[in-house]
Amino acid sequence: MHYSQSRRSFIKKVSAGASVLVLQPLLSACGNNAGSSPAFTNAEVDIELRLSAIPDKVQLFSGAPTIVWRYTGDVIKGPQKTLEVIPDSYLGPIIHLQKGQHVRVHFMNQLNESSIIHWHGLHVPESADGHPRLAISPGEEYIYEFTVMDRAGTYWYHPHPHGRTGPQVYQGLAGLLIVHDSEEDKLQLPQGAYDLPIVIQDRLFDKDNQFFYGGSPMDQMMGFLGNRLLINGRMQKVFSVESRPYRLRLLNGSNARIYSLAWSDGSPITVIATDGGLLEKPITRDHITLAPAQRMDLWADFSGRSVGSTLELISRANSTPGGNDEFQITAFSIDEDASTISELPQQLSTLILHDPKNAVNAASPRQFDLQMGMGMTWNINGRTFEMEKAANDERVRLGDLEIWQFNNTGGMGMLLPHPMHIHGLQFQVIERRIDPRYIDRYDSLSGGLVDEGWHDTVLVMPGEQVRVLIRFEDYQGLFLYHCHNLEHEDMGMMRNYRVVG
Ligand code: C2O
Ligand code: CU
Ligand code: CU
Repeated sequence: MHYSQSRRSFIKKVSAGASVLVLQPLLSACGNNAGSSPAFTNAEVDIELRLSAIPDKVQLFSGAPTIVWRYTGDVIKGPQKTLEVIPDSYLGPIIHLQKGQHVRVHFMNQLNESSIIHWHGLHVPESADGHPRLAISPGEEYIYEFTVMDRAGTYWYHPHPHGRTGPQVYQGLAGLLIVHDSEEDKLQLPQGAYDLPIVIQDRLFDKDNQFFYGGSPMDQMMGFLGNRLLINGRMQKVFSVESRPYRLRLLNGSNARIYSLAWSDGSPITVIATDGGLLEKPITRDHITLAPAQRMDLWADFSGRSVGSTLELISRANSTPGGNDEFQITAFSIDEDASTISELPQQLSTLILHDPKNAVNAASPRQFDLQMGMGMTWNINGRTFEMEKAANDERVRLGDLEIWQFNNTGGMGMLLPHPMHIHGLQFQVIERRIDPRYIDRYDSLSGGLVDEGWHDTVLVMPGEQVRVLIRFEDYQGLFLYHCHNLEHEDMGMMRNYRVVG
């Protein structure tokens, strides 16, 4: 097998205390499939990190600690502040990168099963994308090299071994990756203590405070839902804030739950960024719909609120699985008057958007039917995941602009929402059509969909057809597209697409 061979050539076992790494240049290791993956020499990397996946224990509640799997990291080269550890959290360190940096990451798998890290949302060569065929065994190391080409924004990283992504994320393996760039820096948006990550995950715990991951066929089909919320990998019920604006970086890091987020007092929600970074202009919504893997950055202005008051972020009742009741996500306690006032810029960025008319398949977009197949399993166009294969209709040309259409209208089976994710690129959401028969279920969430800006994950609601516009830039090779309901993904609602020259 071409891949297992090339993989081995730049993996070195870390057992037996051997610590000298022989790094083959990635280009020669991966042959012509690696696209334009750069092979850096030591002098050329700006940032070099080590990330390990390890079993550990954290104190989430009083009483017994919770056994977790987590990423820990250290900086080998570059500023120490590249990694920001969240205290008392099982989440991996927040990785801060600057656009343009050359990065090398050594991933050490210290779990008792195979794993691999995927940088969700980043535009990287296939050798650095964390495809499941690249998963490494316990005790092995995988070396990633890539250049940060993405806009400033909120990205994240998580495991991607086939069939085990859901349980591994659930056990705690996930972290934020924040890209900074000079365009965004100029805006002087709230920084440091005023730039708050809010990673939302739901979990079930057993009576001994341990994660309980259900595995019944029903759980697999619906996606796994918890009954307790963790914020940033801990029980964070309240953030202490000043009466001033904050940037909140929301990530739905849940396996399957979709949130309909709103302020408890009914104030409008102001969104400044989506998956792929800043919007052109801030937009406001009564509520926002955040599906698994999606990010939205909010401008949360607590100025004018009196010290001692509290504002809750809630999830409203909605039509998605587990969404029957309203519940609290977290709360902000205004504890101090702020002296500094910062204003929300009315122009955040200038987006260079594509025109759907220029798509090579504008007349007949590529179709992806999201369907239920035999034995209550989800698939795409009737196909389940195949590790090394992309079908003929899953080949795209490097440089082409295409329209992809996801159809959640399949057959007579039941319909569920599917957050569809495409690896390696950001796309525009250009069109939604809802079958009128599903309009009732649709209404509770559709007002919260934010389609402006750049995205790597789009929620396709029951009865809906959604079109996205995407250009296959820079890298040839094999990349994934899949449902980011992790139970759906694990059961094979995932396929490869191949970018050819
Ligand atoms: Cu978060 Cu394959 O992705
Ligand atoms: Cu991804
Ligand atoms: Cu799905």
